[in-house]
Amino acid sequence: MALSLEAQSFADRTITAHLGRPGALLGILERVQEHHPNKFLSPEILEYVAAKTDVPLSQLYSVVTFYALFNLEPQGEHSICICRGTACHTRGSRNLLRRLRFELGLPEESEDGADKLCMTTPDRKYSLRTVACFGQCALAPVVEVDHAIFGHMNEQTLHREVEHLTKTKEKK
Ligand code: FES
Repeated sequence: MALSLEAQSFADRTITAHLGRPGALLGILERVQEHHPNKFLSPEILEYVAAKTDVPLSQLYSVVTFYALFNLEPQGEHSICICRGTACHTRGSRNLLRRLRFELGLPEESEDGADKLCMTTPDRKYSLRTVACFGQCALAPVVEVDHAIFGHMNEQTLHREVEHLTKTKEKK
């Protein structure tokens, strides 16, 4: 799909504001992703940024596939991220992941222990993903719900948080 003029204009402004600064590329990609209603980087926007910054497209793909914060698929309205690092795993993150998949109606996959998983419900309300470590292992198991970090998470609290998101959504 062609990139809209509005998306091009936002990318132009973002590139102008960031170029030449340390970490410019990450900043540009992060802002452009955040600007998209479905919080992801489409092939079209990546091609556009590559052309405008003179960074090879292959290098952009290396960056966005390396960092967990970047999405190459459209995301749900709410995001829930479960840590699957060693500390969180030993404190029960696998069960949190299973419980949430069940609640959201997301299919079980054989790669249940995968470090990097990202699934979105068909109605695009929720995206469930995993990370290798949040760097907050003392709080294991750690879960991020719409960018808020929750430490020492358990199934009941996670259920309550998801229920809260659902109710908030229904009130809108
Ligand atoms: S292993 Fe989960 S925060 Fe480090």
